[in-house]
Amino acid sequence: MNRNNPIGIFDSGIGGTSIWTAINNYLPNENTIYLADSKNAPYGEKSKQEIIDFSIKNTVFLMERNCKAIVVACNTATTNAISVLRTQFPQIPFIGIEPAIKPAAIKTLTKNIGILATRGTLSSDLFCKTSGSISKDIHIHVQNGEGLVSLIESGRLNSPETLTLLKKYLSPMMAQNIDCLVLGCTHYPYLIPQIKLIVGEKVTLIDSGFAVAKQLERILIAHNLLNNNALIASHQFYCNADIKVLKTILKEVKDAKIDFFNF
Ligand code: DGL
Repeated sequence: MNRNNPIGIFDSGIGGTSIWTAINNYLPNENTIYLADSKNAPYGEKSKQEIIDFSIKNTVFLMERNCKAIVVACNTATTNAISVLRTQFPQIPFIGIEPAIKPAAIKTLTKNIGILATRGTLSSDLFCKTSGSISKDIHIHVQNGEGLVSLIESGRLNSPETLTLLKKYLSPMMAQNIDCLVLGCTHYPYLIPQIKLIVGEKVTLIDSGFAVAKQLERILIAHNLLNNNALIASHQFYCNADIKVLKTILKEVKDAKIDFFNF
């Protein structure tokens, strides 16, 4: 494997681009290939076996394109499938993402934290294990964000339906006096302005994008695969459904060579 080979990144759709942005900002020399499996979104409503099957397919797609490491930029796929991926593909390092419960538990003063994530994430063994390891004096209020991923995938970030759903999901947590809200799905950072309208400025929103970029750097260094080449990095984005929304959310990215592919 060569240092110039790309990092592979996949998600059920466009949400993982929030992680791609953190990676591109922190490790700008790295070439990337991003796979949005939008045809099969939302993963959060699928069975564990379906999530595993999609994740294997996505991994094969990225390995065929010579990726040197794979970022599972999806909480649902990480919590349900990453152990299977690591067993099945031991030759490639995987970096996953989980809801940032521990940072929220450290930060909270009211001892009440909210977790907004998909059903698939909230019902996973990995999530139960991590939330079970948190000190008992911290109350964790979980909410399945059903419907939000489909609204984001179709570009309806500011629609009345999105605001209504967010109010329905966040108001009970606010009534429990949360002061930290974990965005436990990589799609949700795209709703930060709308979420802030509901929870205000006193609730800290926590996502794991930067932590993933740092962990990726550690893994690349450990495998002697960090790209020090200062040439402009190239980025390929693949999507198996309507690619319009993906293009729209990435149009602000400056100084990057980006190519889009529909497949
Ligand atoms: N963006 C993904 C996550 O982090 C998946 C959401 C979905 O497809 O349901 O969980």
